[in-house]
Amino acid sequence: MELDVFQKCFDYGLAQKIRDAGIYPYFRTISSPQDPVVTIDGRELVMLGSNNYLGLTNHPEVKAAAAAALERYGTGCAGSRLLNGTLDIHVALEERLAAFMRRDAALTFSTGFQVNLGVLSCLLGRRDTVLLDALDHACILDGARLGFGTIWKFKHNDIGSLERKLAAVPAECGRLIVVDGVFSMEGDLCKLPEIVKAKERHGARLMIDDAHGLGVFGESGRGTAEHFGLEAEVDLVMGTFSKSLATVGGFVAGDAAVIDFIKHQARSGIFSAAPPPASVAAASKALDIVEREPERRKQLWENTCYMKRELAALGFDTGESESPVIPLAVGDDLLAFRMVQRLHEEGVFVNCVISPAVPVGRAMIRTSYMATHTRSLLDRALDALARVGREFGVLRTG
Ligand SMILES: Cc1ncc(COP(=O)(O)O)c(C=O)c1O
Repeated sequence: MELDVFQKCFDYGLAQKIRDAGIYPYFRTISSPQDPVVTIDGRELVMLGSNNYLGLTNHPEVKAAAAAALERYGTGCAGSRLLNGTLDIHVALEERLAAFMRRDAALTFSTGFQVNLGVLSCLLGRRDTVLLDALDHACILDGARLGFGTIWKFKHNDIGSLERKLAAVPAECGRLIVVDGVFSMEGDLCKLPEIVKAKERHGARLMIDDAHGLGVFGESGRGTAEHFGLEAEVDLVMGTFSKSLATVGGFVAGDAAVIDFIKHQARSGIFSAAPPPASVAAASKALDIVEREPERRKQLWENTCYMKRELAALGFDTGESESPVIPLAVGDDLLAFRMVQRLHEEGVFVNCVISPAVPVGRAMIRTSYMATHTRSLLDRALDALARVGREFGVLRTG
């Protein structure tokens, strides 16, 4: 019997089932900027689901920089960086990013996802093994799968598990450890000091995906490695522009020879159009503000600590979060869908996270915070969270 490749689509009923139940939480259409309050269907909701940590996506200077670049260079680059798509502002941004991150060189890509696809696929040859934390972001796994190396996962933040895997890699193989600096769903940090020791014991290289750490952690906002005082021990860092840097795009920073290799070998960079001028200018201006206004980071942390304390006091299970990503673990997918819908009705936007973004049975409501949330908005959200948490019986008591 012939098999139709579309059959799986015709059989796929999950999304429709959730829509029919009136609790579908995805692709909600926002008709306002990504601010602490957003507009959906003419209603205002407190936004607790954005990665706009420093609140810069609607900042007048960032928008003015993007508008000026749009005016000067047009809407796109019409080709890859390798061929016709490199602008002077790409080069300038890469120099700035390298200097900011205290690395020899940096290379920009059109998304953070493409950074990991390109970097890992080109670095992992047949004789290499990559060791991934089980909760690493999907694009790390996808990038590793596109390479020719062997992929081994170690248990989340379990250094014993990492050590055992490292010890089992044949001596003649290259070893690369790749971890999220801040895990994107649980909001916990990688155990960098222990990972660095393991890396050194086993002669491995280490790459950090600091999508959620950049601009948030470290005295200067350089991220997780700065936070731990271990920047020199990390070989390669990737960051994205889609969170603290207020636009879309990404970069990798490291030693000059490594970046030059990636520049000429990473297929997601050389076979894809360059980041558009407005995004390049927006990221550059956002970086200015990261450097100029440490008080934004301070405010973000005040908001984060306040919410972590209040959510825990209400009885929510916030897991191991140590960052502005604070999950509210509920366990069951259906329960998560229903709670997200109720919160929406109560005027709070939160994200519904189920497998495969988290392990099966670990469904969660993912909340995240911005420097620009006011205390009164946070309190309004807390009231709704308390009401809905009680309604669904997910609050721990005593
Ligand atoms: C840890 C991590 N890495 C990479 C990415 C991809 O970044 P981008 O949105 O720039 O493609 C994300 C974004 O969701 C992320 O959370």
